[in-house]
Formats: sequence, structure tokens, C-alpha cells
Amino acid sequence: MKLFVPKEREAGEPRVAASPDTVKKLTGLGATVVVETGAGADSRITDAAFEAAGATIGSTADAGDADVVLKVRRPSADELKSYKSGALVIAAMDPYGRDDEVKAMAEAGVLAFAMEFMPRITRAQSMDILSSQANLAGYQAVIDAAAEFDRAFPMMMTAAGTVPAARVFVMGAGVAGLQAIATAKRLGAIVTATDVRPAAKEQVESLGGKFIAVEDDEFKAAETAGGYAKEMSKEYQAKQAELVASHISKQDVVITTALIPGRPAPRLVTRAMVESMKPGSLLVDLAVERGGNIEGAEAGTVTQVGPAKIIGHLNVPGRIAASASLLYAKNLATFLETMIDKETKALKIDFDDQLVQATLLTRDGKVVHPNFAAAEAPAAPATPASDAAQKTEGGEA
Ligand code: NAI
Repeated sequence: MKLFVPKEREAGEPRVAASPDTVKKLTGLGATVVVETGAGADSRITDAAFEAAGATIGSTADAGDADVVLKVRRPSADELKSYKSGALVIAAMDPYGRDDEVKAMAEAGVLAFAMEFMPRITRAQSMDILSSQANLAGYQAVIDAAAEFDRAFPMMMTAAGTVPAARVFVMGAGVAGLQAIATAKRLGAIVTATDVRPAAKEQVESLGGKFIAVEDDEFKAAETAGGYAKEMSKEYQAKQAELVASHISKQDVVITTALIPGRPAPRLVTRAMVESMKPGSLLVDLAVERGGNIEGAEAGTVTQVGPAKIIGHLNVPGRIAASASLLYAKNLATFLETMIDKETKALKIDFDDQLVQATLLTRDGKVVHPNFAAAEAPAAPATPASDAAQKTEGGEA
């Protein structure tokens, strides 16, 4: 079983899909691991460190006879051409709205696994790339805000006077938001947070944050069986906007992380709300890649809007790549391990396994994932993305 780990081709992607730890683990399970030279450089993993863990250092030509390719991003058309038919390609496939690219993977004959569809069940927690990467993004969002902020985060009582604590408001208290709350608390800020899922209230409070939300009947029902947010009605969004508008005007830092699987990010902060903030305030939009939660946020830049700066960095986990790669690599290796026969040390995929069914996009030249059936047969009625996304969710939270 030959495993290939390429250097990521996409600009601005410093992460790598293997670490010395996972190379050691996978070679122990019988794999021959080839890592493309320089693949780990931007994540501070040298070729020598991969070699010491048991990998061979190779080139893109090694993709040709690999049984498994581990990647961070969906392979490009060029990369696909270099893979052998029947190879397993495991990555963050970002497949929504990418029907052509998903179809191209089917046509290339690969078994493409989308790691972001891993069900949120206990068994798969260690394979959950959304959690491992969002957690670091939440941390990094606070660090980025603190670096741009020209005041202090903690309250400081000094002989020369008192520096007030910064007020940080976190919108969206999922994995990223909860880590942002914890990080801002550690830095001494006064932290408030909001979310549309009722379960978030207790989690926010357990981290020492104050919960801010319109808690009506719609709010009480606003969570899918898989633990994700539902898209809220226009009426709820208006009520919530009114509540948060007055709150935001008193904040120093706003961090937004609100996402709904398979949908554009909800718009939570209007230009008027940004304009209402104090001079020197900061906003960080972690949803900028999915359309953004903040009006005026620009993907990939820091923008001055009235009195405030909006930070719209792309690929925030990539800003903390050395940590992000270690966790991402572990997620992939743990999943791959479930598809390796311990006795024969060969690949053995159980296509009835819940994890395989939830993540497998393409097989035998076809798009097999139910959410993307439309890509294969355009005549079939398209499933709304939000419903489709919910179908992949596991029951356990
Ligand atoms: P996400 O990345 O899909 O969304 C981020 C947050 O934004 C969510 O908390 C969501 O409710 C919130 N949001 C959406 N629309 C909003 C709006 N209009 N206003 C305010 N907030 C809004 O979510 P993430 O981080 O993936 O977590 C979702 C849930 O899954 C959480 O409860 C998390 O604790 C749970 N989870 C469970 C795991 C398990 O294995 N049991 C693993 C990881 C997460």
C-alpha cells in the first residue's frame, strides 16, 4: 500500500496532510509513505523530520502509483491526471457549488473522500477536521484582533491609572466561537456571545461569557439533530439584529464565526453597526470565505470601515499552520486507519460503514454521494443544499 502526501498547490495553503507522528503510525500499519519534497516546509516540518519518521522523500511523479493520496485541498485537474484510477483521495473537498470538480474526480476514477462530511458521532470525533481546524481558527481570530488592537485586553490597575478591560463580542458559539471566547477570557477581556442554537447558551456561560440572544420559540427549536444551526426566519434575524445593534456599539472587538452548512454565511453585522463602534474598534470575520457575516468585510484583507477595522483573513487555520497541520494530519490518519486491514496490512474498505458512506463522494467513475446526485444526473431534482447537508449529520452530538 503506497501512500503519497503532496505539497499543496493552492496559493496561501501552508498546511500539509501528514506529520512525523502520522507517518510513523501509518508505516506501522504497513503503508509505504512518500512525501513530496518541501511538502511540510510551510508547516515547519522538514523533509528530514518526515524521513526520520519513516517516509521517503519523493516528487509529484510518486502520485502515479499511489494507492492513497492525503491532501489538504481538493486536487486540481492537473493533479487528478497524475493519480491512478482507483486511488483513494482524502482531503477537505469543499464540494458545495463545485459540481464540475466533483464530477471530474469521478471521471478520474478516484475514490474521493470529503473529510468535512465526517459525522459528528463519538467514534469519529478524532477525525473531525471541521472541529480541529475551527478550534485553532477561533484562537487565531483573537490573537489577530489583539495584534491589531491599540489598547490592552486585560484590565490593568497601575499607579498611573486604570486601563479598562476590552469588551469582546463573539457571534456564533460553535467550535471556533467557543475557543475565541476562551482565548479572549484568558487575555482578560469582558466577553459576551450570541448564537441561534439554544445549547450554546450554557456552553458560553460555562466559559465565563455572557449570552446575548432573542430567546423566543423559534430560537428554542433552532437546532438540527446533528447539532448544527438552521437558517433563521427573516423575522428572527430582524429581532436579533435589533438586539445586537445596541450591544455592538459598546464593544471594542467583534468576532463573527456564524455558519450554516451548505448555505452562504448569514449577514449579522451591517455597515451601520460597524459605523456605531468607537474609534479603533476591530471586527474579525471568520466566515469571510463563505460570503461573510460582516458587511464591508473583504476576503484576504484588513479594511478600514468608518471608525473600525474589519479583519478578513482567508484560511485562518493556515495562519497557525504548524499547529493546524499536526491536528489535520491526525484526523486523516485516524480515518485512514479504519480502512486498513490489520492482518493483511492492505486497504479494506467497508462501504457500509457510516463514516465511509457519509464522506465518499465518488466511486467507480460515478458521483455516489446523495448530496451531489445532481452533478451526476442533471435531470434529477436538485436537493436544497441545507437539507442535503443535514442528511449527512450523525445523530449523536
Ligand atoms: P458551524 O461552524 O456550522 O457554525 C458556527 C456557529 O455559528 C454555530 O454555533 C451556529 O449555531 C452559529 N450560527 C449560525 N447562524 C447564526 C446566526 N444567525 N446567529 C448567530 N449564530 C449563528 O458550527 P460548528 O462550530 O461546527 O459547531 C456546531 C455544533 O456541533 C456545536 O454545538 C458543536 O459543539 C457541535 N459539535 C459536536 C461534535 C461531536 O462530535 N459531538 C464535534 C464538533 C462540534
